[in-house]
Parts: sequence; structure tokens; C-alpha cells
Amino acid sequence: MTLNKPHVLLTGGAGYIGSHTYVALVEAGYQPVILDDFSNSHPVVLDRLQHLTGQRVVCERGDVLHTGLVTEVLQRHGCVAAIHFAGLKAVGESVEQPLRYYRTNVGGLVSLLQAMETADCRSVVFSSSATVYGDPAHIPVTEQSPCMPESPYAHTKLVCENILASLKGADPSWRVGVLRYFNPVGAHPSGLIGEDPSGAPNNLMPYVTQVAVGKRAKLRVFGNDYATPDGTGVRDYLHVSDLAEGHVAAVRALLAREQSFTVNLGTGEGTSVLGVLDAFERASGQPIPFEFAPRRAGDVAKYFADVSMAEDLLGWRATRSIDDMCRDSWRWQQNNPDGYRTAGNAPTSPVHSLRAGVASPALTGGVV
Ligand code: NAD
Ligand code: UD1
Repeated sequence: MTLNKPHVLLTGGAGYIGSHTYVALVEAGYQPVILDDFSNSHPVVLDRLQHLTGQRVVCERGDVLHTGLVTEVLQRHGCVAAIHFAGLKAVGESVEQPLRYYRTNVGGLVSLLQAMETADCRSVVFSSSATVYGDPAHIPVTEQSPCMPESPYAHTKLVCENILASLKGADPSWRVGVLRYFNPVGAHPSGLIGEDPSGAPNNLMPYVTQVAVGKRAKLRVFGNDYATPDGTGVRDYLHVSDLAEGHVAAVRALLAREQSFTVNLGTGEGTSVLGVLDAFERASGQPIPFEFAPRRAGDVAKYFADVSMAEDLLGWRATRSIDDMCRDSWRWQQNNPDGYRTAGNAPTSPVHSLRAGVASPALTGGVV
């Protein structure tokens, strides 16, 4: 039944953004193929994807650094494109473990591209980040703004973008879509899939939802003396379902119009930390206790995206509001107070283990 659908490899497809993109791709008539080592995801997500899409989930367990495995997956499924989500994403951790970040993020991309070349699959979408801009001088941030990464994580993203540009320069048959995400938040409206951070969240929205559900006492608002209307940091929050649809638009553009691009994905609107708290309290009916704390090192005061290029090139624009983001984040957190590890969430979907070369038996819980 899936034979005629274009197959798209999703490295890191079991993670937060990858799982939402999986659903959006199925809805758009594609057959996504997940390759994930489950180092930062849980196999229960596969059951949830099966439930949401009404079809068997295609997932291979493996490390994107294993070029031979990636080649085998691309060839076996006849993939026509890949979206590269797999990687490490914690800014603070990247400062402490730069080699691990370069190896996984940069090495992972090189491995994927080598496998794609062997498999004769030359359309790739790359998960980049607005963090490549550093502290932008002009707002809204356009794609022409200078890239001035400040953390090892941000540097890995820019190195990856440069690798893709070099490859395209050497072989014009490559089609490359670089997506610079602003601040993805929210969850699927079903409450079945969402962001599942391990340990204390670094980012605002998952911290707020954990306060709301009683897992954390209060939010610390980092800085109330920025040059912004209420003194707190302003960001361009983007619903993860809008972001997922942006990936569908990117794959469609690469395959149909044979076009390469680098675009911002955001809403084009800024919301302050206190603005997020207001919206969250409205959406959830829960008061969020907070205190002001010193500025967090490395934070910038304010940025949001110029999104006109995404609209012009991809015909995509975000449609969901900050209230939608808060409502869906809250539903996910309420239904899954401990994320995918919440009691009663034992996974049942088999995960194919490439290393073993066979389907593993049904998993019974815990991280595989
Ligand atoms: P995530 O951690 O939820 O998902 C990443 C997935 O990749 C996980 O399922 C993990 O198990 C898998 N993975 C990690 N290393 C792997 C490896 N070597 N081989 C195979 N699988 C591996 O992260 P996310 O939030 O979904 O982010 C996806 C991508 O988007 C990342 O590249 C991240 O840098 C980028 N990004 C994320 C954000 C954000 O706020 N979430 C913002 C900008 C860019
Ligand atoms: C952070 C990363 C960025 C990454 C992005 C992913 C840093 C310096 N930057 O961006 O590289 O791409 O996450 O989404 O880590 N805040 C609080 N209290 C909290 C958490 C956050 O007040 O407990 C504030 C921050 O100061 C900021 C805003 O909330 O003003 C958003 O923070 P966050 O969600 O971490 O995103 P970024 O800082 O934009």
C-alpha cells in the first residue's frame, strides 16, 4: 500500500520535531522512514505515531554515524529524500563537551551525505537553527543577516550549512533545503506526542508546563532589565505542527522544483517571557509561580524572524497562535506528566535493529 508513496528518510525521526514531521508527511501523502538510535527518545512514540496515522510505523534503529547502515536503509526503502533531525541540541552541554557535539552533529551529517551519494538520493533538508545568527544587529532577522554563532552547538550548525553549500557547489545535482528554526514549542493537538526533555528542561515552555503540572515549584525568569517592553527576553515561538508542515513544504519544493534554499521558519512575531506566562495561564487556567533571576549567560534580549522568504519560496506560513502553542503544550504535559515514561506507556511496536538485521521483539519499556 505504501509502495507508490515517495519515501523520505527522517534521521532522528523519533524525537520531538521529527515525530511531528512524521505525522505531517503521512498526512501529505509521503511515507516517512525513521532512523533513530533512541539516545534522546523513547519507543512509546512509535505506538503514538501508529495511532495517529492509522498505519504501521516504519522505523529502523541505528546510529546515523554508521554510514553503511544509513546506505542500507536508504536503498532498502528507496528513499527519494532525507530530513536530517538527528543530533545533539543543548547549548550548555555543547560548551562542556564540544568534541561530542562536533562528532555527532558534523560527523552525523557527513555520514548521511556519503550514504545518500552511494544510494543516489540527493535531496536533503537540514535542521538548522536561528542560533547561527548569534546576537543579531537588526530585527526582524533576515536570511542575509550575518551568521555569528556563539556556542559550540551554534558553530556545529553553521559548519553543517557550509558543508552542504560546498557539496552543492561541487555537484549541482544536489538539492539542499536549510531550515533555520526559531523557537519550536507546543505539541500535537491530540496530546499524544510532544517534547519529552530528560532532566530539568533548559527551555522556557517545557519548564513552564512542568511548573503547571506540579513537578517544579516555580519558574525563574532570566532577566527583567532587557531593552524590551516588559524587560524580559523576546523570542519568536513557533508551533511544532507549523514547523512540521514547513518540512513538508521544503521536501515538496526540493522534489518538485529542484530548488535549493536557506530559509527562516518562525511566525515573524515576538513574545516576551511574561507574555508566554500570560498566554499559558489563560490556556491552562493554572497560575504559574515565578521569580525574577539574573540574566542567563549567552541570552540575547530580543529576536524574531523575517518570514517572507519561506512564504515566497515554499508557500508556507505559520498559522497557529501563542495561545494554541500553550494549550497544546499543556494538554501534552497533563496527559503525560512524565513524558513517554509515564506509567502505563509500555511500548508495543517492534523496532527494527539494523545491527542485528532483524526486527526486535516487542519492547516492554525503558529506553532501548
Ligand atoms: P530531539 O533530541 O527530540 O530529537 C533528535 C533525535 O535524534 C532523537 O530522537 C535522538 O534519539 C536522535 N539521535 C541523536 N543522535 C543520533 C544518532 N547519532 N543517530 C541516530 N539518531 C540520533 O531534538 P529535536 O528538538 O527534535 O531537534 C531536532 C533537530 O532540530 C536537531 O538537529 C536540533 O539541533 C534542531 N533544532 C531544534 C530546536 C529545538 O528547539 N528543539 C531548535 C533549532 C534546531
Ligand atoms: C535556546 C538556545 C538556542 C536554541 C533554542 C532552542 C541558549 C542561550 N540558546 O534559545 O541556541 O536554539 O534554545 O529552542 O540556550 N527563560 C527563562 N527561564 C527559563 C528558561 C528560559 O526566563 O527557565 C527565558 C530565556 O531567558 C529566554 C526565553 O525564556 O528569554 C526563551 O528561552 P529558551 O526557551 O531557552 O530559548 P532561547 O534562549 O531562545
